[in-house]
This record gives sequence, structure tokens and C-alpha cells, in this order.
Amino acid sequence: MSFLHMNRRMAFILALTSIALTGLVGCASHRTAVSAKPAASLNTNAVVATPPVYVPDITHQNDQLPDGVLAWNSLLQITNIVETADAARFIVAFTNVSSSKVAIMDVHPSCGCTTAQLPQLPWVVEPGASGEFPVSVNLNVAGHQGTLFKSVKVTTDKGFKEIYLRISFEPIKMAVITDADREKFIAMSKADRQAIFTGSCADCHVKRGEGKFGKALYDADCAICHEAEQRATVVPDLHKLKVPTNPDFWRQWVTHGKPGSLMAAFSTAEGGPLNDMQIASLVGYLSQTIPSTVPSPQ
Ligand code: HEC
Ligand code: HEC
Repeated sequence: MSFLHMNRRMAFILALTSIALTGLVGCASHRTAVSAKPAASLNTNAVVATPPVYVPDITHQNDQLPDGVLAWNSLLQITNIVETADAARFIVAFTNVSSSKVAIMDVHPSCGCTTAQLPQLPWVVEPGASGEFPVSVNLNVAGHQGTLFKSVKVTTDKGFKEIYLRISFEPIKMAVITDADREKFIAMSKADRQAIFTGSCADCHVKRGEGKFGKALYDADCAICHEAEQRATVVPDLHKLKVPTNPDFWRQWVTHGKPGSLMAAFSTAEGGPLNDMQIASLVGYLSQTIPSTVPSPQ
């Protein structure tokens, strides 16, 4: 049999192996399998030098990853972040410190709010090689306080490892404005109560609330005036209202504000920055956290 024939036969066998492999570890291995080309060097005596396809042995997937296989940048990653942040981002980095290949089969975050960005799996890491992938925890879902724990389970053919992520929230620092600014700002709002949504006013009064909901939105867009220590006397304390409140009350005020006062209309329909979902989230948050102190008249 000529070398050429041998190559053809081996290529055929390889193709068969590829198909078997695809069935074994799913379509992820497909790319690896089809790229395995027979090395057609007809003028040497060498037997076909096809790089062997790495077939992960998945029987250890459910065991803890033993020490001495992958070294990690950190098994408990800690970040401090302002409580209105929309996401916390981490980098999971590792080095294969063993003498054999390690295949990362799966990366599974502890909740739907956490996502890992990965190359195609299985991700075969050569001995001595390093890799990393970003993990991001979406914090837009609700306002946060205190500490939040998440985890990411990395499953390899040598066992799995749990990486823990700790997010500590810091209260947002209120912007500070000078007395001169305050006077100027109040004068501008008196002329047009929607002025806070325009120009450089928006940096403090709109941008911090963009894409936010519930508590995070309240902290950014409402607390700036209503919870400010230095606020003007015309800005009421929402925790000590002398009128009965209910979801309709909150919706009315957020949507329309009050013409002729400094309280703007926040709905997009009236030129404000908040869409219906954001308003609904505020109404829910305010109804729950600031219950009516005055009984409603029967
Ligand atoms: C630019 C400062 C400012 C911002 C920002 C602001 N408010 Fe106001 N708000 C006021 C002022 C001033 C009043 C008083 C209006 C008046 O003269 O009756 C007021 C009144 C109110 C009232 C009526 C209270 C009462 O006395 O019955 C509610 C409710 C309210 N605001 C909720 C909100 C919410 C919720 C947000 C966030 C979406 C918000 N406000 C953002 C300044 C602000
Ligand atoms: C650097 C951030 C920042 C910018 C820019 C800003 N504000 Fe404010 N604004 C605040 C803070 C903080 C408060 C809270 C009350 C305080 O400190 O006086 C506030 C409060 C207000 C109030 C309520 C009155 C009061 O002092 O309690 C009005 C009205 C207002 N701003 C209008 C405006 C207008 C109009 C603009 C744009 C010309 C503007 N602001 C730009 C931060 C800002």
C-alpha cells in the first residue's frame, strides 16, 4: 500500500473518530474534529503526523477538582461598588499547573443575573498554559444594600471548582453643590421646573438614574432632592407627609409633578426621563418602603 493510500485510509478513520467524538461530547467538539487534517508529506518515511484530538474523560466532572491541577487568581473575589452600579465585573484567571491537558467543559453561574464570557467549550488548556474569562453580575434588577454573594462553578474533566464572588455595596455619595449654585439652580427651576432634565443639570439629576429601577432609581433621581440634608425648605420630607399616600398618589406625583412648583414631571410623555416601567418600579418601591402615616379618609 502506498503512502497516499495509507493517508486516505487514516483520514477516513479520523473522520469516523470525529463523528464518534461529536456524539460523545456534543457539537462543541465539532470544530476541533473537522480541523484535524491528515499531514500529507509524501516524500518522508514518517507515519502520518496528525495532532491527536484530545478526548476529555468526563468521568471526574462531578468530583472536586484536586489541588495541583489549576491555580486560580482567587477563589473568593471581593469588590466594593456603589449601590447604584449597574454591574459588578470580575476576571477569573487560571493556570494549568499539572502535566496534562485540562478541558473546561462548563461554567455555570449561581443565578441568571451572572454571566461568564467564554470561548467555545470544551476549552482545552495545555500544561503550563493560562487562561481567563470575564464574569459580570447584573445589578440592574433591584436596588442593593449590604453584601451580595454569587458563585461560578467551573467544571473540568479533572473535577469542578467553585469560585465565590462577594460584592459589597457602598452608599452613593451625594453630590455637593455650593450655596451660589443652589440659588442659581432654584431660580432656573422656578422659571422651568423641567430644567433639571436638560444640559449640565442632567449630569446629576438624570444620568445617574438611567436604566435603573426601584430603590436604585429612587436613590439617584429622587433622594438627590428629597433626602438631601441641605435641601431647600420647599422640598418636603417624603417620610413625614401629612397626606394619605397610596400607589396612585406616588404615580401621580412622579408622572406629572406639580406645575408652578419645583417638582418636575418625570414621565417621558411630559418631557421627563422615566418610562412606564421605571415609574411602576418607583411606585412599587415607595408604596412598600414609605407606608402612609395618615389613614386614608373613608
Ligand atoms: C429638583 C428637586 C426634586 C426632585 C429631583 C424630586 N422632587 Fe419631589 N418635590 C420637590 C419639591 C420642591 C416638592 C414640593 C412641591 C410643592 O411645592 O408642593 C416635591 C414634592 C413631591 C411630592 C409631594 C409631597 C407632598 O407634599 O404631598 C412627592 C410625592 C414627590 N415630590 C416625590 C418625588 C419622587 C418620587 C421623585 C423622584 C422621581 C422626586 N419627587 C424628585 C422636589 C424634587
Ligand atoms: C453637581 C450635581 C448637580 C448639578 C449639576 C445640578 N444639581 Fe440640582 N441638586 C443637586 C443636589 C445635591 C441637590 C440637593 C439639595 C442641595 O444640596 O441643595 C440639588 C437640588 C436641586 C433643587 C432643589 C432645591 C434644593 O436646593 O433643595 C433644584 C430645584 C435643582 N437642584 C435644580 C437644578 C437645576 C435647574 C440644575 C441645572 C441648572 C441643577 N440642579 C444641577 C445636585 C446638582
